[in-house]
Amino acid sequence: MPPNADQPAAMKRFMRQRELAHAPLRLDIERRVCGSDYGATSWTTLDEAGRVAELLRLGPGNLLLDIGAGSGWPGLHLAATTGCNVVLTDIPFYGLQAAVQRAEADGLRGAVWVAVADGAALPFTSGRFDAVSHSDVLCCLVPKLAALESCRRVVRTGGRTVFTVISIPPGLSSADHERAVAASPPFTDADEEYPAMLERSGWEITDHIDLSGEFIHSTRRMLEEEEAHADELRALHGEDDFAARLTRKRSRLGVLEQGLLRRELFAATAVPSPKI
Ligand SMILES: C[S@@+](CC[C@H](N)C(=O)[O-])C[C@H]1O[C@@H](n2cnc3c(N)ncnc32)[C@H](O)[C@@H]1O
Repeated sequence: MPPNADQPAAMKRFMRQRELAHAPLRLDIERRVCGSDYGATSWTTLDEAGRVAELLRLGPGNLLLDIGAGSGWPGLHLAATTGCNVVLTDIPFYGLQAAVQRAEADGLRGAVWVAVADGAALPFTSGRFDAVSHSDVLCCLVPKLAALESCRRVVRTGGRTVFTVISIPPGLSSADHERAVAASPPFTDADEEYPAMLERSGWEITDHIDLSGEFIHSTRRMLEEEEAHADELRALHGEDDFAARLTRKRSRLGVLEQGLLRRELFAATAVPSPKI
């Protein structure tokens, strides 16, 4: 997998972004752009979360696992709107702590559990969950196939998964590929296409939706919001970080508009697998 040369800096930036995501202005912007107010770091919108709930066929009595859950978006929202129970996992505890507070505030105590766990080595019994979801998580980790396999193991056969992921289309020239990698989250580049990885890990695809148009719209809206609140955001992020942030967003928008980057949603059913 060709590395994104900026990976360590990108990871540091991501942690900082998560810390600032709960600042009141950032929450206002998140509400206006994505329709959520959880301190989210994915690009999942409120409409998309509704689509995820339908595709997973969630309802009371179901147990959902949301990996790379950050501070609870969209897992907590799915529990609140469908009546399912949810286990949220991530590696940093900071986001999960915010998720616990939000669950309490939303009256979800008793329906939500959190665990610090690697999505590629989940510490749960096989077949424990009815469904598993993740939002733009596979583009933030290296062992993508291992994560899909681990999710498959903990979901019962016949259970479902829905996830979104940012990816680089195959067949780009090396110059375009390099531009796409530079404008992507740190581990976007993958050795294999997601449909092939899903098949190899015991999942049968039921829906595959290209969300690139929506992603372009959200990225553009985010840029507009950030430019409109530039003075306050400069004070919040610091002059240099904010300038770099705008540059990255503009470059991502350019790459997206040229079709060098895409965002997709996959829905799949867990089929019997010799690996489980
Ligand atoms: C784009 S964020 C999405 C967070 C949250 N679901 C949201 O929508 O705001 C991706 C998340 O994946 C998590 N992550 C990265 N590597 C992981 C791994 N190996 N196992 C579990 N989570 C991981 C990150 O910590 C981060 O919270």
